[in-house]
Amino acid sequence: NERITAAALLAMKQRQQRIAVLTCYDASFAQLLEAAGVEVLLVGDSLGMVLQGHDTTLPVTLDHMVYHSACVSRAAQRALVIADLPFLSFATPERALDAAARLLGEGGARMVKLEGGGRVIATVEHLTNFGVPVCAHLGLLPQSVHRLGGFRYQGKDSATAIRIEQDALALQAAGAQLLVLECVPAVLAATLSERLTIPVIGIGAGNRCDGQVLVLYDIVGATAQRPPRFSKNFLTGTGTLPAAIAAYVAAVKSGEFPGREQTLA
Ligand code: KIV
Ligand code: NA
Repeated sequence: NERITAAALLAMKQRQQRIAVLTCYDASFAQLLEAAGVEVLLVGDSLGMVLQGHDTTLPVTLDHMVYHSACVSRAAQRALVIADLPFLSFATPERALDAAARLLGEGGARMVKLEGGGRVIATVEHLTNFGVPVCAHLGLLPQSVHRLGGFRYQGKDSATAIRIEQDALALQAAGAQLLVLECVPAVLAATLSERLTIPVIGIGAGNRCDGQVLVLYDIVGATAQRPPRFSKNFLTGTGTLPAAIAAYVAAVKSGEFPGREQTLA
């Protein structure tokens, strides 16, 4: 059982095998997710909302991300561990490289993810030049929630859709090896999955992506509030955590998830 790398994910895309991704913040779940066949464990800064109880991801610090990355990386034997660069930790290429050094060093992650398009192209180049694998993130950018005025769907108007497509191509050219597309119309995500050579992982982006990601707590019903409409509780109907996670993986692999109900546009 070899470790999953960016090259392995690229090969999956080429073979049209869908990639199952979940967020993960601790060692116990890392083991469960891996046992269920999840290829990528995303230590997302969503932990600021899910674990820390904040309204946004903005208060998450690099120390927090390093701590949770280390918890997950310690347990992960095979899955690719990706850690989010938190709010403003990548405001310059130099700061981003310092932050990535901690996430890959102390944190044991094997790829970093950062939000945004044009403004981060030089940073993506800088990181990849120094050997840091990068996952890009376009569409809804939760770290920009105050500028956006809320967690809203992106790319419904053609100007935004065109900008997202141009950003995606530029990020790929800059060296990004993976792209997360959050809350964009399914047609846009499908087009980008076809046009880009790198795998596109969707969340609230329809089922014609190369893979899917969801927040772990949402799929096991560990949410007091109503989970987002694009998500699904896989615990109801399965009854145990391992079965719920396995059901998610199976539904992603078969293309059954997301279905009509979880697709917004
Ligand atoms: O932080 C996170 O969980 C994420 C995913 C929702 C893509 O960035
Ligand atoms: Na995130």
